[in-house]
Amino acid sequence: MRDAHALLDHLTTEILAQKEAGTYKVEHQLEGPQGASVQVDGRSIVMLTSNNYLGLADHPKVRDAARKAIDEWGFGMASVRFICGTQTLHLELERRIAEFFETDDAILYTSCWNANEALFAATLTAEDAVFSDELNHASIIDGIRLCKANRYRYPHDDLDALAEMLEEDESRHRMVVTDGVFSMEGKLAQLDELVATCRQHGALLVVDDSHATGVLGARGRGTAEELGVHGQIDIVTGTLGKAMGGAAGGFVAGPQSVIDTLRQRSRPYLFSNSLPPMIVNASLAAFDLLDESPALVARLRENTRFFRTELESRGFDVPRGVHPVVPVIVGETALAIQMSKELLDEGVYVSGFGYPVVPHGEARLRAQISAAHTREELEQAVAAIERVGQRHGVATP
Ligand SMILES: Cc1ncc(COP(=O)(O)O)c(C=O)c1O
Repeated sequence: MRDAHALLDHLTTEILAQKEAGTYKVEHQLEGPQGASVQVDGRSIVMLTSNNYLGLADHPKVRDAARKAIDEWGFGMASVRFICGTQTLHLELERRIAEFFETDDAILYTSCWNANEALFAATLTAEDAVFSDELNHASIIDGIRLCKANRYRYPHDDLDALAEMLEEDESRHRMVVTDGVFSMEGKLAQLDELVATCRQHGALLVVDDSHATGVLGARGRGTAEELGVHGQIDIVTGTLGKAMGGAAGGFVAGPQSVIDTLRQRSRPYLFSNSLPPMIVNASLAAFDLLDESPALVARLRENTRFFRTELESRGFDVPRGVHPVVPVIVGETALAIQMSKELLDEGVYVSGFGYPVVPHGEARLRAQISAAHTREELEQAVAAIERVGQRHGVATP
């Protein structure tokens, strides 16, 4: 007789092993809103590990828009979009996103995870192929697993290898998919080159620009704007859960035929609830804020430049870049985790990442800068990283 509860024992053993190995993830509780500084254990801590790039997660105009939508449009939709879950607001936000990326149309999902899960299965069949950068986000990997197309993983950022694979493949229709920004590194995909490669080999280019929407480019249009190819990406997926308000929501922006197909066929759209009106309206407010105040993107860039320069001048190993994800390489995984703990004691909330999320020997603190950080907050963070770094002999002045 087999014991159904044996699974529970098995899971408990695995969790215990994770705790012993120090890999069990512990969640610190924020005792107030997300912001440039947050309240943890009754103390104010500089937040260096959220995706609140523009500081809109607690912006008064975004809060007001959410509150107003609850009053005027209600709390929830109690439906999927195609049954009775589409309000005027949803269509307005979709138009806004399409204009933003200069595509024909856009479609909302409740997360970018859902958007990536939707795209490939709805548009590609077993006769087709998808080519994915090996370091793409988990949601792209899972989204591709759900489709029947031939799957190719190209070595990270290796466009020669990609071109060779495209050359050899004989599938009917092809898509190439990449993160716009690889978030462990803050490294940009070479979208200018990718546009050319895809054109040359007759493939559609899909970019998940979750970490760059509202962040990169003079107008915050993303990685493509930063690299001079705005409006030339065939299909863009992205999130409303980072710079653009930070609550939730995702989208696909692209050609009419793709968006129409997704509305008709994509499973997360057909079988999962509509985005609540308060989030839709607050996201519209976030797009307004971005367009009305270019200073937001400029401040984010200046804060990032300041933080990177200060750390570099103190001898830290900070890979070059322009993105507000600022990795500080410390070497071993245990050290990154230990430094992250000590930094919390020092009043700075920054995550430590190690193997297998990043290669062996390249464990790091990953700081994420926001337009909302004041100079004092950034100086406080740099001073704390310097103290903790010196304690462990990390920086080489
Ligand atoms: C590149 C990328 N794609 C998708 C997602 C998922 O976005 P969401 O939180 O909207 O599901 C993330 C979030 O971490 C991401 O970094």
